[in-house]
Parts: sequence; structure tokens; C-alpha cells
Amino acid sequence: MRLTRFALAVMAAALFSAPVLAEQLNTVPAITNPVVKKECGACHMAYQPKFLGASTWDKILGDLGHHFGEDASLPADTVATIKAYYDANAGDSLPGLLRITQQSWWLRRHGGVGHTRFAAAKSKANCLACHKNADKGDYPLD
Ligand code: HEC
Ligand code: HEC
Repeated sequence: MRLTRFALAVMAAALFSAPVLAEQLNTVPAITNPVVKKECGACHMAYQPKFLGASTWDKILGDLGHHFGEDASLPADTVATIKAYYDANAGDSLPGLLRITQQSWWLRRHGGVGHTRFAAAKSKANCLACHKNADKGDYPLD
């Protein structure tokens, strides 16, 4: 059973092949929902829904009390609003890895980015440090 699941995951990974996905993600729709912009942009740039699949967003939004080392809890009705937006606009990702910066396409596209550049950005998750229009959904090659 485990092996079968693993095999399926490998096949799925092959399907979400890097070139296709990276091209699709070069520009992604900007976030238009003001609640999402405000609440999910309070500590970092609000990440666009297209970067992860709906089930991954659901996992993140289902445990905001333990959010990458922070308590990002919100009232249930606010979470419901945010969840509806992320689910409706989600992209694809394999279940399991919660971070955008852990996805295989992300790692491949950033494999050539130097250590000093990441150090200057402070965190891989600080998209705006390198993509100056990231909050508008714009991630062009430089
Ligand atoms: C209280 C602060 C806070 C709030 C509010 C918050 N986050 Fe985060 N979030 C963090 C921290 C801290 C990290 C880890 C950042 C890092 O690794 O540099 C993070 C990381 C993430 C990541 C992973 C980034 C990566 O590495 O790919 C996602 C996705 C994410 N947050 C989504 C959300 C969503 C959706 C919301 C709105 C419900 C939200 N966050 C609200 C603090 C917050
Ligand atoms: C330290 C700098 C840095 C950070 C931080 C960073 N990126 Fe990038 N990103 C780059 C560079 C440089 C490229 C171009 C890579 C190349 O030339 O192949 C790139 C490429 C991309 C691409 C592909 C664009 C294309 O046209 O193919 C996407 C999408 C992307 N980044 C998204 C993100 C997201 C989302 C985040 C934050 C979670 C992020 N990046 C954080 C430097 C960064």
C-alpha cells in the first residue's frame, strides 16, 4: 500500500513537470480579496493561491495556530472566507509539502540563485526581495 502510494506520488511528480508549471507561474493572478490581502499579508506578502493545490491550502488554513512557528490564528468566519478564496483559485501541488519553497518546480527554478542573494533576502519565502512585483503576481526572469 505504501509502495503503491509512493509510486503514484512519483508519477504525479513527473506529470507536474517543471517547464510547464514554471511557465504557467511566471505570472499568476494577483489577490483581489481584501480580507486575504490584509490577513495573509500581515507578516509576509500574501502568497497567490496558484502556487499550491487546494488540499495544501486547506491544511495550512486548518492549523493557523501552528503556522511555521507562529500563531497566526484568526476567527473561524475569517478563516472560512480566506479558505473559500484559496480553494477557488488554487493551482496544483503534491500533498505533503506545505511550503511553496519546498515544491520541486520552485527548487528547480531557484537552483541557480546564489547563496548570497538568498542571505540578503533573509528567507526563501521573501519573494518580494527578488521579485519586485511579486505582490502583483509578477515573477519574470531577470
Ligand atoms: C503572525 C504572522 C503570520 C500571519 C498572519 C500569516 N503568516 Fe504565513 N508565515 C509566517 C511565517 C513566520 C512563515 C515562515 C516564513 C519563512 O520561512 O521565512 C510563514 C510562511 C507561510 C507559507 C510558506 C512560505 C514558503 O516558504 O513557501 C505560506 C504558504 C503561508 N505562510 C501562508 C499564509 C496564509 C495563507 C496566511 C493567511 C491566513 C498567512 N500565511 C498568515 C507568518 C504568518
Ligand atoms: C533570493 C532571490 C529570490 C527569492 C527570495 C525568490 N525568488 Fe523566485 N526567482 C529568483 C530568480 C533569480 C529567478 C530566475 C531563475 C532563472 O533564471 O532560471 C526566479 C524565478 C522564479 C519563478 C519562475 C519565473 C519564470 O519566468 O520562469 C517563479 C514563479 C518564482 N521565482 C517564484 C517565487 C516565489 C513564489 C518566491 C517566494 C515564495 C520566490 N520566487 C522567491 C529569485 C528569487
